[in-house]
Amino acid sequence: MSHPTPIDQRPAWKALAEHARQMRQVHLKTLFQEAATTGEPRYPRFCRRATGLTLDLSKQRFSNATFEGLMALAREADLPAAITRLLAGEKVNHSEDRPALHTALRLPADAHLEVDGQDLVPAVHETLDRMEAIVNKFHAGQWRGATGKAVSDVVNLGVGGSDLGPLMVTHALADYRPRDVHEVKVHFASTMDGSQLADYLTRLNPETTLFVLSSKSFTTIDTLSNARTARDWLLTRLVHDDHEEPSAIDRALVMRQHFIGVSASPEKMAEWGIAPANQLEFWEWVGGRYSLWGAIGLPIALVVGMANFRALLGGAHAMDCHFQEAPLEDNLPVLLGLAGIWNVNFLDIRAHSILPYDGRLEYFASYLEQLEMESNGKSVTNEGQVTAYSTCPVLWGQLGPNAQHAFYQLLHQGTQAVECDFIAPLRRYDRVEDAETRAHLKAQHRLTLANCFAQSRLLMLGDDAIEDDAPRPSHKRYRGNQPSSTVLLDRLTPHTLGALIALYEHKVFVQATVWDINPFDQWGVELGKQIAGETERILGSREGLETMDDSSQGLIQALWAAEDQ
Ligand code: F6P
Repeated sequence: MSHPTPIDQRPAWKALAEHARQMRQVHLKTLFQEAATTGEPRYPRFCRRATGLTLDLSKQRFSNATFEGLMALAREADLPAAITRLLAGEKVNHSEDRPALHTALRLPADAHLEVDGQDLVPAVHETLDRMEAIVNKFHAGQWRGATGKAVSDVVNLGVGGSDLGPLMVTHALADYRPRDVHEVKVHFASTMDGSQLADYLTRLNPETTLFVLSSKSFTTIDTLSNARTARDWLLTRLVHDDHEEPSAIDRALVMRQHFIGVSASPEKMAEWGIAPANQLEFWEWVGGRYSLWGAIGLPIALVVGMANFRALLGGAHAMDCHFQEAPLEDNLPVLLGLAGIWNVNFLDIRAHSILPYDGRLEYFASYLEQLEMESNGKSVTNEGQVTAYSTCPVLWGQLGPNAQHAFYQLLHQGTQAVECDFIAPLRRYDRVEDAETRAHLKAQHRLTLANCFAQSRLLMLGDDAIEDDAPRPSHKRYRGNQPSSTVLLDRLTPHTLGALIALYEHKVFVQATVWDINPFDQWGVELGKQIAGETERILGSREGLETMDDSSQGLIQALWAAEDQ
């Protein structure tokens, strides 16, 4: 619900802007020195724990006054009421006139959530039960291809939210693969150029391969063009229509045994040829980038089993309850979101790096790139006014230890101020059976955490991180003062991963609420799709080139020249 006066014209924002004038001059190391002299350490002051996660904001450029000012800003933006509206299923997605109810996908079976007079929970659990039946069939080796062999490879065809979430989670939780079940390998193909798919098609056996077509809209050209190639690959290899000797394997059998569809449009799935029994549905009120919690999560459940998938939902639900119930000053998503706002809007730090120190979180940064930038990369308020303030920063990331050998140079000595999120599990490798290997791997884990803690400390303190009085040339100096947050997971489990993802989902909502923008639409991607369609028509027909600008004409002519060679 928008306020008549823009947020940056209201008292709490103005007070923070005034306060920031002074804070911009204060180096983080000074804040730590002051805390040491006043006997008020920063870690207990700015660190909070919930749902198996610890969030340390002590290396943010906060003073006590900053913290209080941010709380006032959250209240001024009416954040508690906005959280209630989100979770109650109000139509918070104004431009598409619908609620954003990814949180409903992780409600327990005995909960109730009525929207427009209908309880959504039974339908959510019915879908989970259908997923469970499918997963169990695969794990029992009972899902058979058209020639009768058990399916051993599943390729998810999807892009954006229909790819990044399942890809990230299956990778993160690969250790949780149930033992003693028929092994199903899960692969992902998203790129419209077909390069990932082409690779699978050379390696996989059509008799034992099944494709999951994941697309909320079931209109996304990237996914549909991969799907068309996959369908032809299967049909030409499995169906041999010879009128003299009709094959027992017909098109319908191949479609039934080798394709599952996941979408909010059952009509379009049916039109494409997905058998009714293989259609898993979700709903318009789930945004694509918030959808891994339901049927889009089928690849996750195929890898980790349904019990672990439900534990993932449990972790996210625990974070939802925390988000709803915890006071603002102890509320993890609220604090993480406000830290970002402080950096972007008051300290002019417009770059944000995501740095997990755990190889299992390899795809976490690319998942967050979509979650944060597609949600909050907006410049128009809910009232349709152009914002006079910055919104989502440029966000990117990479596994921290690898990034140390790639772009940390810029973090330490470049000219850009960057906020960093360090993410790591406290415990790892407890389940490795062989004692000697376990000891080695645990030592590697400790080494990794040493690097994680060292980097956030060096980014904060700069040269002062090391006791060394020897003068250093300027090219060896570190200025420090780069703010960071650290998120520690007790362990990386389905439960804590669910909580971690939900933490970031809600962080995005917190920021959107303060910025008064809609995080649940993505109109900024639509025009590109339309223009690409028109361009493709010109490329194919070789007509209409004169309607283009001269740069585009030049590029197209270069392509035609290459095609004509
Ligand atoms: O083009 C952007 C987008 O709509 C994302 O929001 C979405 O996650 C992705 O494309 C895929 O969409 P769909 O699941 O409908 O294929």
